[in-house]
Amino acid sequence: MQISFEGKSVIVTGAARGVGRSLVHSFLASGCTTLVAADRDEAGLLETCTGHEDHVVSVVADVSTQEGANTIVDTAVDRFGGLDVCVNNAAVAPMQSFLDYSVDVWDTVYAVNCRGTFLMTQAAGRAMIAGERKGRIVNFSSGSAKTGGAGAAAYASSRAATEALGRVAAIALGPYDILVNTVSPGLIDTQPKPLPPAMKAGLEKRIPMLPLARPGEPEEVANVVLFLASAFSSYVTGAVWEVDGAAGVGSRAPKEIVDEDVRYDWVTGTKRT
Ligand SMILES: NC(=O)c1ccc[n+]([C@@H]2O[C@H](COP(=O)([O-])OP(=O)(O)OC[C@H]3O[C@@H](n4cnc5c(N)ncnc54)[C@H](O)[C@@H]3O)[C@@H](O)[C@H]2O)c1
Repeated sequence: MQISFEGKSVIVTGAARGVGRSLVHSFLASGCTTLVAADRDEAGLLETCTGHEDHVVSVVADVSTQEGANTIVDTAVDRFGGLDVCVNNAAVAPMQSFLDYSVDVWDTVYAVNCRGTFLMTQAAGRAMIAGERKGRIVNFSSGSAKTGGAGAAAYASSRAATEALGRVAAIALGPYDILVNTVSPGLIDTQPKPLPPAMKAGLEKRIPMLPLARPGEPEEVANVVLFLASAFSSYVTGAVWEVDGAAGVGSRAPKEIVDEDVRYDWVTGTKRT
């Protein structure tokens, strides 16, 4: 199985760092020569795109605005004659304790994570229909959409909203052969180092408990996105793809499991004495 994006017009948002940067490099490594990399962080975008100027057009834009989303999609259409793939990876994840959670932070998170994903999905869908392309749209969620998370009132709920949006969009765009899926990463190693002390301490406790006892790498998320963006995912739409090393399933088991229950023999149902 050889995934190739040769001749495909691709958009990646949130391309200035983390998973987005990795996505840009993975698409390029898979033959894409017509890619729009978008972010509101101009300096980070420059770092991602340096050395790839022949194949990447960078767009500084805010996905949470209609103007920003249209600029990103119009750039792909104007420069590359249409749009085949749109990966809506841009997001924000500020944490605040629940009882102190501010409305401003809530609104910002929803503007980027929900409105931004909606605007980009809608604009990409319109462009794909206009160009009669069998397009692929990949949106992002997070494991916290299911598990919740301390301090993540807006973030976790906004990611749950993108899962629902993905299902709606998959139904609406299915008749045009445009497939919409959502990727839901677990803990991925994207934070700039050194980590703040509290975050470092929290991760040192959490990571050994993960089933794979390590965070995922951005490239491991990109690999799944590339599959969903490729010709190989032709009967996959409206789905949420967990890329979390089973973190959403449970914690690592202890080395030895001891049955200390002295009340019953669970096989015979008899009382233990
Ligand atoms: N890293 C993780 O552990 C993790 C876990 C679960 C889900 N995710 C999801 O994966 C995706 C990527 O995560 P990451 O860790 O690489 O994120 P990140 O914070 O490192 O990067 C996000 C990028 O989005 C850009 N961005 C933010 N707001 C924007 C806006 N309004 N317009 C344009 N660009 C904007 C930022 O500038 C940044 O470059 C996100 O959708 C996130 O919700 C990440």
